[in-house]
Amino acid sequence: MSGSVAPISDDAEQKTIRLLLVDDIPETRENLRKLLFFESDIEVIGAATDGEEGIQMAIELQPDIVLMDINMPGVDGITASERISQQVPFTQIIMMSVQGEADYLRRSMLAGAREFLIKPFTSDELVQSIRRVYQLGASRRRAMPVTQAPAGAAATSEPLVRTSGHVVSVFSAKGGVGCSTIAVNLAIALQQNEAIKVAVVDTSLQFGDVGVLLNLYASRTIADLASNADELDDELIADVFLPHNSGIKALLAPPRPEVADTVTPALLTDVIERLKMMFDVVIVDTGSVLDDIVLNVLDLSDKIIVVTTPEIPAIKDAKLFFEVTEALEYERERIMFILNKADRRINIRAEDIEANIKYPIQAQLPLDERAVTTAVNQGVPYVLGNKSGLLTQATIQLGTRLLELLHSQSDD
Ligand SMILES: Nc1ncnc2c1ncn2[C@@H]1O[C@H](COP(=O)(O)OP(=O)(O)OP(=O)(O)O)[C@@H](O)[C@H]1O
Ligand SMILES: [Mg+2]
Repeated sequence: MSGSVAPISDDAEQKTIRLLLVDDIPETRENLRKLLFFESDIEVIGAATDGEEGIQMAIELQPDIVLMDINMPGVDGITASERISQQVPFTQIIMMSVQGEADYLRRSMLAGAREFLIKPFTSDELVQSIRRVYQLGASRRRAMPVTQAPAGAAATSEPLVRTSGHVVSVFSAKGGVGCSTIAVNLAIALQQNEAIKVAVVDTSLQFGDVGVLLNLYASRTIADLASNADELDDELIADVFLPHNSGIKALLAPPRPEVADTVTPALLTDVIERLKMMFDVVIVDTGSVLDDIVLNVLDLSDKIIVVTTPEIPAIKDAKLFFEVTEALEYERERIMFILNKADRRINIRAEDIEANIKYPIQAQLPLDERAVTTAVNQGVPYVLGNKSGLLTQATIQLGTRLLELLHSQSDD
């Protein structure tokens, strides 16, 4: 043992990541220690043998990260994570499991875990995951004083001066509800105001549709940034954006699904942070899976447009997603819930959905198969090709409302 002492400093850059292990199997604890031993930026500050001890040690030691086994006798990983999330909110949890079932993943996230590692994993996977989650936590900690007044203090009169643009993600837990269509048309609707710069980014990495909807040939995509991840700068990023004749700029998804893996959550975080300085509004189309790519995008978003349609599976999935956002403590005002494909002939009305989900629907876009089909076939988004249509009008209204909400949010 070198016996070196971790520098105690608040300086985020230099800080050692303090990690607590929670696993009931002694060999696993030993292996994890070995895997992490040579990482100079990670220090294992303790190891608990069950959930109960894990909670106690997390409260005492206030680690940056808890590496938690999901299956343990007594208090299991899910319950322990819930308690730790409540009592030590700055601590980030990475859940480990031998099972990769979706239900485990969902329950872990509801309990507050930020990542899910399936055993056996390599030391590289482990270390990457720890650093990623730590960074996410660091950006949250930095964000805290701005978004939350200290308990008991009167709301500060100092306005929050924004120097950067807004990130707006379009998300649905259910596929096929219209996220990509809305992302593209909303971006163009906002760009009608020539004074602002609008970008659309496709983070639906495997099967992104933004290029097709805008009729842009994917000569450059986000994958080009992945291959230059070490020397990323604003110029390089600006280069991979494709201009669209509406005035918006588009960053497309990789051309082939197998290339998607080269785009890491850390890269995407870096890119989006920089885009805030380059554009006034960045609309991000996301995939419908809650993986770390999407969670990172949602974390970075000033506004999350959650899309549903008047169909039971879509409504059910929206409801589940709201449970996740509550567990992740996303502020309600960061979410804008909208109904797409609204249709009078269908007897599920907006009021019924609101009553079921307990979230107000803030905008509705009508079903108009003709407008969207023509748009796709001609490669001209409906906001441009069908200017007087109701769907276009509703999309422009959505844009106006969105800007109002973003402005009132940054004035708070
Ligand atoms: N308002 C609307 N009226 C009619 N059809 C619509 C409307 N919005 C979207 N659609 C259609 O619904 C289908 C799914 O739309 P889109 O691809 O935008 O959804 P998505 O949520 O991005 O899907 P995916 O999960 O595949 O990414 C498309 O065929 C699209 O043309
Ligand atoms: Mg899509």
